[in-house]
Amino acid sequence: MSIIKALNLFKTYTLQDGIDTVLKDINLTINEGEYVAIIGPTGSGKSSLIRILSGLEQKTSGNLMLFEKPIENYSTDALTELRIADIGFVFQSYQLINELTVYENIELAATLNGFVDKDKIYQLMSELHIKSYASFYPNMLSGGTKQRVAIARALINNPRLLFLDEPTGNLDDKTTNQLLLLLKEQNELHQRTLIIITHDKDVATQAKRVIELKNGAIIRDETNG
Ligand SMILES: Nc1ncnc2c1ncn2[C@@H]1O[C@H](COP(=O)(O)OP(=O)(O)OP(=O)(O)O)[C@@H](O)[C@H]1O
Ligand SMILES: [Mg+2]
Repeated sequence: MSIIKALNLFKTYTLQDGIDTVLKDINLTINEGEYVAIIGPTGSGKSSLIRILSGLEQKTSGNLMLFEKPIENYSTDALTELRIADIGFVFQSYQLINELTVYENIELAATLNGFVDKDKIYQLMSELHIKSYASFYPNMLSGGTKQRVAIARALINNPRLLFLDEPTGNLDDKTTNQLLLLLKEQNELHQRTLIIITHDKDVATQAKRVIELKNGAIIRDETNG
């Protein structure tokens, strides 16, 4: 089944001195179980693309189907529900809630989905090596640790579709390798669809498909291997 289908997608921003087209004629189908890396220079539209594909932000024109349903056919509530239950998102800037501890940040995501499994939260924290930070607040953590908390939060509801924006940007080699293993497992064992923005060669190599953006357009879309 196709999880994402984009046809002639455009995104423009109206600025004081004119219109900025950040996504140009994007055509893309991503099927359930795929592992896709999105690469491209800074400002090429990578984050904009996944914000739109995840329903976080609106396209300017074109067609977008999410889970085989046109995005226009979702009510605001239905889209929110879909995002909570089926879509995980790891932001480039983490977006943790500073007033909540590490544990509570992850727990909140589970609460939104209506089901808190404490053991699962501890298991995920342990897999991501953040268990010893459970009662820490985000401002007490390094960038790499915040990134891992953001990843745990995105995984807690077992999303079918997981977006990650530069998840290894602040990780050292060892932690990057641990995360790569985790992502591989999420994809191969749990059939989760992964869409991951990266500058890291190893991450792009592990993905099964690489999409390259330049100036808001797809200039390459290839299967790895
Ligand atoms: N809310 C906004 N209003 C106006 N312009 C925006 C907005 N968000 C993004 N842009 C512009 O869209 C373009 C693409 O930005 P985007 O963040 O998607 O790039 P990126 O490929 O993710 O870059 P990076 O690798 O630095 O994260 C940039 O020129 C940016 O200035
Ligand atoms: Mg970005």
